[in-house]
Amino acid sequence: AKLRRFPLKLVKGVPLMEPIADGWDIVENFQAFPDDLIISTYPKAGTTWVQEIVDLIYNDGDAVKCQRAPTFVRIPFLEIISPPPLPSGVEMLGKMPRPRIIKTHLPFHLVPRSIWENKCKVIYVARNAKDNTVSYYHFDRMNKTQPDPGTWDQYITKFIKGEVAWGPWSDHVKGYWAEKNNHQILYLFYEDLKENPRQQTVKILDFLERVLPKDIIDKIVELTSFSSMKNNPMTNYTFFPKNLFDHSVSPFMRKGEVGDWQNHFSEQQRQLFDRAYARWMDGVDIPFRDLL
Ligand code: PPS
Repeated sequence: AKLRRFPLKLVKGVPLMEPIADGWDIVENFQAFPDDLIISTYPKAGTTWVQEIVDLIYNDGDAVKCQRAPTFVRIPFLEIISPPPLPSGVEMLGKMPRPRIIKTHLPFHLVPRSIWENKCKVIYVARNAKDNTVSYYHFDRMNKTQPDPGTWDQYITKFIKGEVAWGPWSDHVKGYWAEKNNHQILYLFYEDLKENPRQQTVKILDFLERVLPKDIIDKIVELTSFSSMKNNPMTNYTFFPKNLFDHSVSPFMRKGEVGDWQNHFSEQQRQLFDRAYARWMDGVDIPFRDLL
């Protein structure tokens, strides 16, 4: 298939890029190992950041080892099915030595059963809805495989309706929140990582039942700052095929801040969004920072 902006196709009610929907049985039948670690997020919530923290932890803070390959090669993207000759996520995982680290954006109810049967650990990262919308909008401008986002105003409406790849933000964050005590799920927030990266890194270490000396933890925090990762060719996606990601439209490592939504939402857009947000979060106690 020629590279293009793929239309979205529903899989069990969730809009996914057409090649993923067409190859869904491969994803659904993925065979996990008990020592697989899953990093799960709604797109643009802090995936790459936590991927780097975890890979550094797995390699005892060795920056050189973590420069062995780009993020998307070191940590395969479970459900991705790209046009040939690019390998699918499941194919790449079949060739990975254990213990594997796996990225996914699948909402809770689409996660392959084998992952729960094997009691795999899952690190979930959530980001406040408005910053998440802004980041996803800019990503869909530069990512030439996902539907064109249209104008910012049009995009807000699509995002609220959940008519974007991987579906509604609200179902995603709520789905994992509701299940977090039924499985080994560590539920993190982008805003906490920003505010206290060291504390959150230690939280990840504890969850992984690993211990590292203090100076190595400091080094990991330093290596995973926004500026370090933006300048690191192995984390900033500049090695990703140029016809898929056009960094001249918007760089993958764009801003890395909390509250950038205030530079994007008009008063009217904010009110529209807040009404939807109130509906989504009615009776839900996920401690997102008050960013409304
Ligand atoms: S993806 O495509 O879903 O894997 O993208 P994801 O990595 O989840 O999200 C990209 C956004 O995360 C920001 N980012 C960071 N912020 C702070 N610190 C670090 N180290 C970091 N690494 C990535 C990245 O800049 C995107 O956010 P925006 O707001 O667009 O800048």
